[in-house]
Amino acid sequence: MKQDQLKLDQLKAELLAVALEAADRAGALLRDGRPADLGVAATKSSAVDVVTEMDLASEKLITDFLAARRPGDGVLGEEGASRAGTSGVQWVIDPIDGTVNYLYGRPDWAVSIAARKDGETLVGVVHAPVRGETFRAVLGQGAYVGDTPLRVRTAPPFEQALVGTGFGYVAERRARQAEVVGQLLPRVRDIRRAGSAAIDLCDVAAGRLDAYYERGLNLWDFAAGDLIAREAGARTGGRPGEPLSGELTVAGPPGLFEPLQSLLDDLGAWHD
Ligand code: IPD
Repeated sequence: MKQDQLKLDQLKAELLAVALEAADRAGALLRDGRPADLGVAATKSSAVDVVTEMDLASEKLITDFLAARRPGDGVLGEEGASRAGTSGVQWVIDPIDGTVNYLYGRPDWAVSIAARKDGETLVGVVHAPVRGETFRAVLGQGAYVGDTPLRVRTAPPFEQALVGTGFGYVAERRARQAEVVGQLLPRVRDIRRAGSAAIDLCDVAAGRLDAYYERGLNLWDFAAGDLIAREAGARTGGRPGEPLSGELTVAGPPGLFEPLQSLLDDLGAWHD
């Protein structure tokens, strides 16, 4: 038993070191190598859901690095990386979360890397180079930005909550998301839309947002940030009783999470 725990702790330490180095290398490439005339390389779910050449370069750098360091691991990346692996460890990568911010030269974008085993996230790293911040968490060992431990804010009264959210790229979904946010806005302190789900979750962890929700995220958007938020004391989930998913992602401190999740469910934030 003790032996198993020791092995798991060693694995977590190794995965964290690998994730931090991969994120750091990708972050340097993205920050220092961003072409002045950066353009759109391709579009995905709609004409405004963009991929730049730098998303592709970042994903390649990270997957090549992981293949060299941990050749038996599986990989799932936003820009198409997919490898099954044999070790039971799966890496979930968003090479740039906040691509539209990156395209416009805005600071809120990040490299998001999570390592999962048996469907559970063991390690999460969200590296935001222009902010100069690296958020990290290890399951059961807390969350940090640099060397500073992260802690969510104590739940405020609902009407004083600062709530982050985000919108999808498809017009019909956005129209529905606008209806939900229109219902929520009069009931809270204010709403923020920063443009990176990974950073939003870290901002909940750091007490810079009281809570965050969004419909339509993918695993690579939330895997690392979810662990960081939970390790900082947040509750996270989807619809009441469900784990967070593409249907709905909600994060916030106990006491705020529950009423927000319940209101979002009533408002139909989980469907288009
Ligand atoms: C997007 C960002 C954004 C969120 C979108 C995501 P991407 O990720 O996280 O904040 O609102 O739903 O798709 O496309 O920049 O990796």
